[in-house]
Amino acid sequence: MLAIAERDVPVTSLRLGIDVGGTAIKYAMVDTADGTLHGDIGEVPTPTPATPDAVATVLAEILAQVRLRGLPLDSSVGVALPAVVRHGVAHSAANISPEWLGCDVVELLSRRLGCPVTVSNDADAAGLAEVAHRAAIDPGGSNNGDPHVILVLTLGTGIGSALVVDGVLVPNFELGHLQIGGMKAEAKASAVARERDGLNWREYALRLQEYLSHVEFLFSPDLVILGGGISVRHEEFLPHLSLRTPVVPALLANKAGVVGAALTVR
Ligand code: BGC
Repeated sequence: MLAIAERDVPVTSLRLGIDVGGTAIKYAMVDTADGTLHGDIGEVPTPTPATPDAVATVLAEILAQVRLRGLPLDSSVGVALPAVVRHGVAHSAANISPEWLGCDVVELLSRRLGCPVTVSNDADAAGLAEVAHRAAIDPGGSNNGDPHVILVLTLGTGIGSALVVDGVLVPNFELGHLQIGGMKAEAKASAVARERDGLNWREYALRLQEYLSHVEFLFSPDLVILGGGISVRHEEFLPHLSLRTPVVPALLANKAGVVGAALTVR
């Protein structure tokens, strides 16, 4: 469980980041000065159905627990959602309840949590966190040839995507919904699709290859970063991929959404 006072971090730079996923809601305190986690990641199941009201109730419970451990009452909270989010309003609901469509999420969550809330697309949050983390540990990007156009893809319940050009995010880049062979890409090549279809790693890599080749042709990124929980198993499928573009596993793996959600508050 999270503890605020584990090391000497000014409480003012700590923010709660929450990543609402298709199966689990993850949360952690993040030091927004450098994007490091402060304590462990907490995780609770996503309610079924994951309506705005049900998710808001779970987030309020999480916040109440974290406040007991020292988070100031007025501290803003960052939330990442698996939906297109424009000006605080959700405009898609591929892997969550259709009730999110048109929901003013900032208004709902600020009211239910009783504090300022920032809401962003989950892959956008993860992409920003991942790119910021890489820039911090490798400032010139020398390990990957100083990439200008970075595409971060998260492989989970769906496929999330974030395009970051010279450090600037192009928000709501929904590449999981590209059609590949008459099917949505995420229905074929997400981590959940691999499990659902009982694919071994080589079979899964073939599907990823088809998807990534298409994406590479359309967008010519300088670097592709593969994230989501499955990225910790990258040794199983990355060696089977062959692209012109360097493809690397996400360094933050499935923590990126939580870290990114908190960073968007900053
Ligand atoms: C949604 C995206 C989301 C991705 C990963 C897709 O189904 O349309 O908004 O980023 O899943 O959760």
